[in-house]
Amino acid sequence: MQGAARPEAATRRDTVRIALTKGRLEKKTLSLLKAAGYDISELEAGSRKLIFALPDAGVEIVLAKAADVITYVEHGVCDMGVVGKDTIMEKGGSFYEMVDLGFGKCRFALATKKGKDVYGGYKTPVIATKYPAVTKAFFNKKNMDVETIKIEGSVELAPLLELADAIVDIVETGTTLKENGLEVIEDVAPISARVIVNLASAKMKKAAIQQVISDLESGLEG
Ligand code: PRP
Repeated sequence: MQGAARPEAATRRDTVRIALTKGRLEKKTLSLLKAAGYDISELEAGSRKLIFALPDAGVEIVLAKAADVITYVEHGVCDMGVVGKDTIMEKGGSFYEMVDLGFGKCRFALATKKGKDVYGGYKTPVIATKYPAVTKAFFNKKNMDVETIKIEGSVELAPLLELADAIVDIVETGTTLKENGLEVIEDVAPISARVIVNLASAKMKKAAIQQVISDLESGLEG
């Protein structure tokens, strides 16, 4: 057999490969797929596997870190992905952002030590963050010069240790800020889980992708 008739090529063409952000977004997305009738038992069994074919569904699930979900979708090795708006805002890229799934809700916020006047000094404010692109875009819009310092985790430490005047970070319940004597000065942007789709797949696999999206959405409404 040659060309289009090869069965493995046909399988690839007919399969929708979905990259899920490991962790909470993965769990919630899988529960929506399960509610829509997809067999996710192999994923539920718990293993170190990273790629799962859902039986009789023409769907493959790939588990990846958030930023990598975008990379795989952008390059077309995954047709679609579920990733937080935080990662989309920070990393950008060429893909369609099709649906706001509405879960994984939190926000980007500018925060600092209780009572501190971030804008009061003569020096350029120093902002610590895991999200330098989001931070720069936020202050650019305000026409404000800031110095950003990239931190990899527990950004709240930076103002406490006097490395930075403030932070731009994800706030969900606000507990981390509160327990460390910090407070929100200003909200930067709302965050939730989004469905992203590869530019070519959106055309080539339009019907199959739309089916997965409506299956996910039907679980959200229920
Ligand atoms: C995120 C974020 C805050 C915290 C906010 O950190 O960076 O630190 O959650 O949540 P809260 O408002 O409900 O307290 P994460 O737990 O992802 O760990 P990290 O700081 O190591 O990135």
